[in-house]
Amino acid sequence: MTDPPSGAARPPGPPGPRIQAYAPGRVNLIGDHTDYTGGLALPMAIDLGTTVSGHRGGNTIRLHSVLADEPATVPLTVADPAETEPAWARYVAGIVAELGPREGFDGEVFTTLPVGSGLSSSAALEVAVALALGASTDDPVALAQLCQRAERRAAGVPCGIMDPLASAAGVEGHALLLDCRSLTVEPVPVPDEVDVIVLDSGEERALVGSAYAQRRAECEAAEHLIGPLRDADLEAVAAIPDELLRRRARHVVTENQRVVDTVDALRRGDYVAAGAHLRASHESLRDDFEVSTPVLDNLVGALHETPGVFGARLTGAGFGGCVVALTERGAVPWTTPVRPSPGAHLLP
Ligand code: GLA
Repeated sequence: MTDPPSGAARPPGPPGPRIQAYAPGRVNLIGDHTDYTGGLALPMAIDLGTTVSGHRGGNTIRLHSVLADEPATVPLTVADPAETEPAWARYVAGIVAELGPREGFDGEVFTTLPVGSGLSSSAALEVAVALALGASTDDPVALAQLCQRAERRAAGVPCGIMDPLASAAGVEGHALLLDCRSLTVEPVPVPDEVDVIVLDSGEERALVGSAYAQRRAECEAAEHLIGPLRDADLEAVAAIPDELLRRRARHVVTENQRVVDTVDALRRGDYVAAGAHLRASHESLRDDFEVSTPVLDNLVGALHETPGVFGARLTGAGFGGCVVALTERGAVPWTTPVRPSPGAHLLP
């Protein structure tokens, strides 16, 4: 056995077989800011994602990425993932802390996802790292819960389960109706006659962590008054005295219903109706939940003027990031549609 070239640090011990773990990003068709109150969402795993490849062995997880100057170097025992440097390594450290792998890993990360633009690049990284380190895909809910805990510890954002669950449970050709209370996943066909397109606003989502936590706290305050938003009706919402909490709750209650209605419309092939629900969702996220931005509103407005676009909305947490649109096939020829894709898996 020859020594590795100096500087090319490989953990001690012989490398195991090469492992390649792939996890897709996701786009949410409808149902935003619903998951953390046990609501409904309709994301789909997309044909862009993150691959972690390398060898298990040693007692350090070391991952290089062409997108980062510094590698992630994480010991098997991590006290506080949020203190790991560089910042991207926190997601790796979060997974290590939650999964507790017995051996290290030496390899690389590649991604075809735009990083930090609302297509769940962090969830894809977490899910791919978890698989590479030995987590199983047999139970996508358990895998997603592990990644959700890791993300909370790594980034300090009290995120819901939608992103890792969409990445773990993706089904080719289907969106996923997620019930974030019962944690059931129901595949819903996305027919070939429509396109799902995603446009990046290019806006930095700097506020996303603190404003996200604030919205979540507002939903909890509303639930304190009227009980679970998942069970609330508009009459109960109307009785909330505080105007701001009333609007936040109204968004969640109406958004849950829009998810149901969109699934119904897709199953009937009524894309005009599905598009109308997407439009209404954007208005609700803009006016009642206040997570849109002028750039996102402009993008959605421009798409709504485009022939063949059934409906568009901001997707994900908001405050920048991407918009998603449901269109006739080929209606927006200058962008490549995303395809509903299989969930995370090990590559041969
Ligand atoms: C982020 C979170 C998700 C979800 C969305 C909004 O993507 O990670 O859990 O709350 O925002 O729907």
